[in-house]
Amino acid sequence: MLVTVAIDGPAAAGKSTIAKKVAEKLGYVYIDTGAMYRCVTLLALQKGVDPQDEKAVEQLLPEINIDMKPNHVVLLNGRDVSKDIRSRNVADNVSYIASYKNIRLFLVDLQRKLAKNVSVVMDGRDIGTYVLPDANVKIFQVASVATRAQRRYKENLEKGIKCTLEEVEEELKKRDYIDSHRSFAPLKQADDAYMLDTSYMTIDEVVTKVIDIIHMKIGEQNG
Ligand code: DC
Repeated sequence: MLVTVAIDGPAAAGKSTIAKKVAEKLGYVYIDTGAMYRCVTLLALQKGVDPQDEKAVEQLLPEINIDMKPNHVVLLNGRDVSKDIRSRNVADNVSYIASYKNIRLFLVDLQRKLAKNVSVVMDGRDIGTYVLPDANVKIFQVASVATRAQRRYKENLEKGIKCTLEEVEEELKKRDYIDSHRSFAPLKQADDAYMLDTSYMTIDEVVTKVIDIIHMKIGEQNG
């Protein structure tokens, strides 16, 4: 049986960490949809296109070719951009680009194709509500903004990115606001999603919980 698992939630809630581990344990393919929005943002920045100019960003679509390789390597027009898409400049601008309808339609089409013939764990903002509304399992993974800021701040320091905890928290609040207030496919919990607050959970606890939920849901669906 092909299984689709959708994990949605706000920035820095730990979705990709959990999705990767769950996919590894179950032998499913992990698909990071945020990386795709980041690729479009990176290309816009590289080409000197203003990320807040919707029409100009849309004009880049014909020259965008995104390929997701095993081991979480992301290729943009044949070049490995896995590191570049995590830069601060990309993070600061990606929410604008993710609010453009034509960009979303283009990437959603790619996401649906990738989930067609394999079991997947896909993480993002609109997977359970829009990309894969029939997903077998839907998780809405959240954590308090203070916890998310702490986690992202620690990650940044480890990567040598200079910032203060206050800056990280402000950035997260701004992204949460833009992601959940855009008109097309905003961040929101699907009616049939399981809400998981990870503020006080370890990574292993969350992974175990998600796998339990998957087994429970699949058991129910198989009658
Ligand atoms: O998960 P992330 O931080 O890599 O996501 C980057 C941005 O892309 C984030 O601001 C929200 C947006 N995004 C989205 O709108 N829909 C998705 N399915 C995935 C990400």
